[in-house]
Amino acid sequence: MISVLVTGSEGQLGKCLQKIANNFDFLEFKFLDSKGLDITDTKNINKVFQSENYNYCINCAAYTNVEQAEKTPAPAFELNALAVKNLSLACKKHDVVLIHISTDYVFDGEKEEGYTIKDTPNPINQYGKSKLAGESSIQEILDKYYIIRTSWLYSEYGNNFYKTILNKAQTEKVLYITDEQTGCPTNANNLAKYILNLIASQNTEYGIYHFTDGKAMTWYDFAKMILKENNLEATSKIEKAKNYRTFAARPRNSVLKTS
Ligand SMILES: NC(=O)c1ccc[n+]([C@@H]2O[C@H](COP(=O)([O-])OP(=O)(O)OC[C@H]3O[C@@H](n4cnc5c(N)ncnc54)[C@H](OP(=O)(O)O)[C@@H]3O)[C@@H](O)[C@H]2O)c1
Repeated sequence: MISVLVTGSEGQLGKCLQKIANNFDFLEFKFLDSKGLDITDTKNINKVFQSENYNYCINCAAYTNVEQAEKTPAPAFELNALAVKNLSLACKKHDVVLIHISTDYVFDGEKEEGYTIKDTPNPINQYGKSKLAGESSIQEILDKYYIIRTSWLYSEYGNNFYKTILNKAQTEKVLYITDEQTGCPTNANNLAKYILNLIASQNTEYGIYHFTDGKAMTWYDFAKMILKENNLEATSKIEKAKNYRTFAARPRNSVLKTS
């Protein structure tokens, strides 16, 4: 049996992993949410890592509120950078392979084409900076790691753009959505499958990976697609938002090239 610890297990990706865990009967999972293992608590990390011989740790714990991180960066850095460093140290000590999820927001968005794993990150907001700091610690501390960058996650769980559009379409006839950012929407269920298949493959080519569902589009395109997929085009319509601004800067183009 391969033993897998999943942190932040009640988040969007964590729930997608829980949903498919039974399909991987050669993997034994320990799912811990933020109460079961607060990854900012180093003592607790060590206790959990001592309690069992894990082969892999999938870190789904993260500070993901991009707007709030811009206003008060410290908690984002505590979780996405410092806690990830401490988790990496525990993985090193206990010879555990770390599978960590990172983001398209480590890039500045100025490139015309998609970003490859060889492109140099240059985050333009605090969330992206905190996630990049986490990546750097992992690379400094560990040899056995996968950093999987992904983008625009959605699923039936948690808060995400897909669900927001569906909810708004219930009450609003016209939704104004920006077409000034391009990225690759990614179903978190597909990311979960990819991660578990990666473990199953016993691939030892550690390093940085990009995973998305592949299709590049703007938020405007994505919103239109969501209405179409749910037969809501007759009741609601999507229009391009003018002068759409957020507190945190967002990359104009955050398409991740996968290969
Ligand atoms: N969502 C996206 O669009 C997107 C895009 C690109 C990359 N990513 C990356 O993908 C990963 C998964 O994202 P997601 O959408 O699944 O995030 P999410 O739904 O926000 O889940 C994050 C989880 O982390 C937990 N957490 C918070 N503080 C913690 C702590 N101190 N210790 C342990 N757990 C803690 C949260 O638990 P509580 O709710 O109990 O606080 C929550 O369950 C993240 O690394 C994110 O950066 C996400």
